[in-house]
Amino acid sequence: MDSVVGIAPVIPVVVVEDADDAVPLARALLAGGLGAIEITLRTPAALEAIQVVAHEVPEAVVGAGTVLTPDHAAAAAAAGARFLVSPGWTERLLDAMCGTGLPYLPGVSTPSEVIDLLDRGVTDMKFFPAEAAGGVPFLRSLASPLPRARFCPTGGIDAARAPHYLALPNVACVGGSWMLPKDLLAARNWEGVTALAKEAAGLAPAAPRS
Ligand code: 3PG
Repeated sequence: MDSVVGIAPVIPVVVVEDADDAVPLARALLAGGLGAIEITLRTPAALEAIQVVAHEVPEAVVGAGTVLTPDHAAAAAAAGARFLVSPGWTERLLDAMCGTGLPYLPGVSTPSEVIDLLDRGVTDMKFFPAEAAGGVPFLRSLASPLPRARFCPTGGIDAARAPHYLALPNVACVGGSWMLPKDLLAARNWEGVTALAKEAAGLAPAAPRS
């Protein structure tokens, strides 16, 4: 696997509060057809969650999100993460993510950042926060001047918006947490998560605008 954006068209972005939930959650997403899972490093349980999913649900491709420091990148790789995602990037962070040997997605929200990354040979990027930073029209505007960049937009996307992103030539996949509503997670309603995952996995790109 040499690219994050080739793994799956929809990547669920998960905040795990209790590591005991990680395996049933990963299995619920997988049962719905979502085989890649980004576990964000925002909770004390995150690294253990990555570790247990990597060991107990090897059919799922588990990655780490919210990678903000070189230490995060190293710890996530040691826990068994198979890809890394960051909402932004610095040179130090980029070097550390690259140093793990894992595929990674640095986050961007401006054309200058895209140019800077392309100049460093990085073509795959997270566009974050997608809806707040300009959404579909923003990415559509980058396709002509910056055709080598491929994006995974994330942030504020839902089942209605995702097909419009997936229809863009420079979008390879979308990320989001819309298939993991807080009430289902709080109730540990894994069947409910599977149902929403199925819907997300079945999303097709929207028809092009005439
Ligand atoms: C994030 O890093 O929080 C992701 O972009 C998820 O965004 P969402 O919860 O708005 O889908």
